[in-house]
Amino acid sequence: PASTAEPCPGDLAVGGVPLAEIADRFGTPVYVLDEAEVRERCRTYRDAFPDTEILYAAKAFLCRAMIHWMDEEGLGLDVCLAGELELAVTTGFPAERIVLHGNAKSPRDLETALRLGVGRIVIDSPSEIARLAAAVGPHGHQKVMVRVVPGISAGGHAKIRTGTEDQKFGLSISDGYAQHAIARILDQPQLELTGLHCHLGSQITSVKPYLAAARRLVGLMARLHEQHGLVLPELDLGGGHGIAYRPGEQALDLTTLARKVRTELAEACAAAGLPVPRLIIEPGRAIAGPAGIALYRVLAVKHTGNRTYIAVDGGMSDNPRPALYGVRYAPRLIGRRTTAERAPVTVVGRHCEAGDVLAADIELPADVRPGDLLAVPVAGAYHLSMASGYNLVGRPPVAAVSDGRARLLVRRESLDDIRSRDVGL
Ligand code: LLP
Repeated sequence: PASTAEPCPGDLAVGGVPLAEIADRFGTPVYVLDEAEVRERCRTYRDAFPDTEILYAAKAFLCRAMIHWMDEEGLGLDVCLAGELELAVTTGFPAERIVLHGNAKSPRDLETALRLGVGRIVIDSPSEIARLAAAVGPHGHQKVMVRVVPGISAGGHAKIRTGTEDQKFGLSISDGYAQHAIARILDQPQLELTGLHCHLGSQITSVKPYLAAARRLVGLMARLHEQHGLVLPELDLGGGHGIAYRPGEQALDLTTLARKVRTELAEACAAAGLPVPRLIIEPGRAIAGPAGIALYRVLAVKHTGNRTYIAVDGGMSDNPRPALYGVRYAPRLIGRRTTAERAPVTVVGRHCEAGDVLAADIELPADVRPGDLLAVPVAGAYHLSMASGYNLVGRPPVAAVSDGRARLLVRRESLDDIRSRDVGL
């Protein structure tokens, strides 16, 4: 096996707190969120995208602390459905800075949105228009956007590409469904159409698809202007900004994205004789992902044939991403120094499923043994928000680190939590 004699650096500290200390204090598995890094990422967005409304995509990871931080950093929120919305508003986040998404909003989703006074609702299907208009009532008023399908393929995996024609989100421009829906919205005086929305997909590492989307949406705005005399003040290009999960991977360059999108919009709008709309973006992963670390303890080491399996105390219930999208992570040994050579291993979880693999064919020091700690960097987005209750292990806690201190944000899910929902016999 290829191996290097690089010594393991031993303890790794985040936010001034050694990760091994966090594992001891809160138990494992545990997710650690670096507050300064989250805030720094918000500021990077605000610097790169002045005059842009930046909505944090709550689906990446949400808890009350995160909601506070977004509010303090001056971001808005993109929420999907009533749960995220209600948590945000009951935590004190201003409802008018929230945009509600969902390809199938239930009556309760719409009722909650109207009751809480959500800023904008993104229409994603024709039937939603009449339902929303009825719920708003003849004397009410609600701002809406329309999610359109630009017909662009982008994104890290087929399951997270949403800009192409044949998927469940949005209304197609090329088939005319978007135009039809917009005409119907314009017929509803209580609905105010503020702009077009699209979301191409997730984990996108190139600027080009965003430029193509901007052109496509301005093209539609130009046609709407001709047909209805409509000038839409907003344009939402969604999220999807890719990040690096392993050393050597390239993240999407936000400064380049901002500059090129601005130029593209200015040129396309000038050609169409339209004013440049206010830009909205919805990054989720790029804000939360790199700020999170998952800590696991090794429970078992096993050799089979020519492979070594390292089994940890978490797995696909707290991180379904490798199983769902084949994503590759780079776990590392922490908490002790070693000069052992590196050896190829596969890190697996402890769920009752062979596909419960966290990191296949990676290299770790050859002396990794039960009791060791493994840290998985870039674990802040779409891990816990997609966590499941498989094998009733209970979802892990979340601790925040900042200024040399760690504090619990979300406690571990206990069997009592799980049992409390189980009300029949
Ligand atoms: N806006 C809309 C309308 C979205 O649907 C999404 C993500 C975002 C913004 C934020 O995208 P981001 O900047 O985080 O890429 N579970 C998958 C990702 C699914 C993303 C769903 N929508 C994963 O773990 O990779």
